[in-house]
Formats: sequence, C-alpha cells, structure tokens
Amino acid sequence: MKKIILGALLAGATLMAADSTPIYKSGVLLAPNAEAIYKKECIQCHSANGQQTTFEGSSRIEYAPINGLNADALAKELKAYRFGSVNKYGYGQLMKSTLIDLSYEEIDALAEYIATEIK
Ligand code: HEC
Repeated sequence: MKKIILGALLAGATLMAADSTPIYKSGVLLAPNAEAIYKKECIQCHSANGQQTTFEGSSRIEYAPINGLNADALAKELKAYRFGSVNKYGYGQLMKSTLIDLSYEEIDALAEYIATEIK
C-alpha cells in the first residue's frame, strides 16, 4: 500500500515537473493559486482591477465590473456560469468555456481572491 501511494505521488510530481509553465494546476499536492488563475483566465476580459466592462473594446458586449461583490455571491454566480445556467447578456457561453476547466475548489478560491484583492 505504501509503495502504491509513493508511486502515485512520484507520478504526480513527474507530471507537474513536465509541465513547466508556472500556471495554477492544482490537485492533490497543490492548493488553488487564485492569483495565477485570475491572471491566466480572467484578466484579458475583466482587466487587472475588475472594472473592464466591454469585451475586446466592443461596446456591443457589455457586463458589470466583477469586484465589489461578496465572495459567496460571486462563487455562486461563477458556478452557475460554469454549469451554463446564467446568460445575463447573451454571452454566458464565453464565461462557461472559461470556467469549465476550473474545479469548485478553484472557483471558491478565485471568488475570495476577487472579492478581497481585486480593486
Ligand atoms: C473571453 C472573455 C471572458 C473571460 C476570459 C472571462 N469573462 Fe467573465 N464575462 C465575460 C462576458 C462576455 C460576460 C457577460 C456574460 C453574460 O452574457 O452573462 C462576463 C460576465 C462575468 C461576470 C458577471 C458580470 C455581471 O455583469 O454581473 C462575472 C462575475 C465574471 N464574468 C467573472 C469572470 C471570472 C472570475 C473570470 C475568470 C475565471 C472570467 N469572468 C473570465 C467575458 C469573459
């Protein structure tokens, strides 16, 4: 049993080492890195301060600033986008395709980060 666990840990460590890009992949060994997730997955559409409200400068696609919400409400909304049950302005699919790669644990950490650090 010990050998199996050790083997699994080593395999995991090797996989992570192989992926040298310093991103956020969390899992058994790593807690979610919300800052890295925000920079990789959100910043391009919502900007560093969370105040960007148009998609790629197109005023056709507008949305609200994403900071200033409480972490629980934000996490709930993000999970709903991930599930595909929110589509406020007709572009929920853009959000879904981003969030589908994140676990609930990562979304919770991200919501906490946005609510407290993004200003
Ligand atoms: C490809 C661009 C894009 C990316 C990347 C993106 N978003 Fe969005 N976001 C949008 C669009 C477009 C909407 C409006 C969706 C709709 O029609 O409901 C939106 C809406 C939102 C809303 C709701 C805003 C409101 O008006 O109430 C939140 C919160 C949000 N995004 C957070 C995030 C977070 C957190 C991430 C990173 C995990 C992220 N977004 C990544 C484009 C993006």
